Amino acid sequence: MIPGIEGDPQVYLNGEFTPLSQARISVLDRGFIFGDGIYEVVPVYAGKPFRMAQHLARLERSLAAIRIPNPHTQAEWRELVRKLIETSDARDQMVYLQVTRGVARRDHAFPAQVVPTVFGMSSPFTRPSADLRANGLKTVGMPDERWLHCEIKSTSLLGNVLARQFAADRDVPEVVMFRDGYLSEGSSSNVWAVRNGVLLAPVNNHLILEGIRYGFIQEMAAARGIPLEMRQVSRAEVEAADELMLSSATKEILPVVSLDGKPIGSGRPGPVYAQLRQAYDEAIAAL
Ligand code: PDD
Repeated sequence: MIPGIEGDPQVYLNGEFTPLSQARISVLDRGFIFGDGIYEVVPVYAGKPFRMAQHLARLERSLAAIRIPNPHTQAEWRELVRKLIETSDARDQMVYLQVTRGVARRDHAFPAQVVPTVFGMSSPFTRPSADLRANGLKTVGMPDERWLHCEIKSTSLLGNVLARQFAADRDVPEVVMFRDGYLSEGSSSNVWAVRNGVLLAPVNNHLILEGIRYGFIQEMAAARGIPLEMRQVSRAEVEAADELMLSSATKEILPVVSLDGKPIGSGRPGPVYAQLRQAYDEAIAAL
């Protein structure tokens, strides 16, 4: 019925669970009209959400950044996620949460009285394949043409959508974006480089989304004694890196073996990736 969706799963919309085919919002919803909303994607392993507290904290930050009052307490969000997980039989899932400013007469300024629209759904999650984990993925570079508030996990994703399509048109799964010659991130992932055993991450500022894995990888690096530098990383440094990696809820952590057809390092996943991969798998197994 809907391309890519099997059956008619239950979804959550404004206080109720309904079959996806029945869920309706107004065409005047500001999420539809302006992209005036924020979202979260929470991975679930064997029925257990991973890094829930961090996802809810980021949801809160995104809402505050665009001045939408948080419609739910932390306990209510947790309960909603628990119920969403129950809507699916899949062992591993991706829970999607979205809040928009709500429905009002079309006017760019915030409406005086408006009730946020809250939407949630859970989809089966297929973890990155053994092939991707073992052999990595190819990427292409492009200028980061997005706005200057990439730290907000906003549903206004046109820049990210066009970037992802730039990759799809070139038959690769992800881009590596550079702003003014410095590494920012992928279309929907954070990007990491390794040079001389040092893990390099772009500075956590308004030019990138602070991925939940961006924080988690820093914790894993500290725990494993992998030196980490958060600083501006030039395109030349990325091209000359020994290793390159991507991280996101859906990609977890994956090695990048080429950029614009040129191999990164040896052209094979490297030892820092292997260490982080192992730590990630251990964290999931311990959930
Ligand atoms: N995207 N940067 C961008 C622009 C992203 O869209 C994402 C995640 C990340 C990584 O964040 P995290 O580790 O919290 O997943 C970085 C999600 C998965 C999405 O839009 O579907």
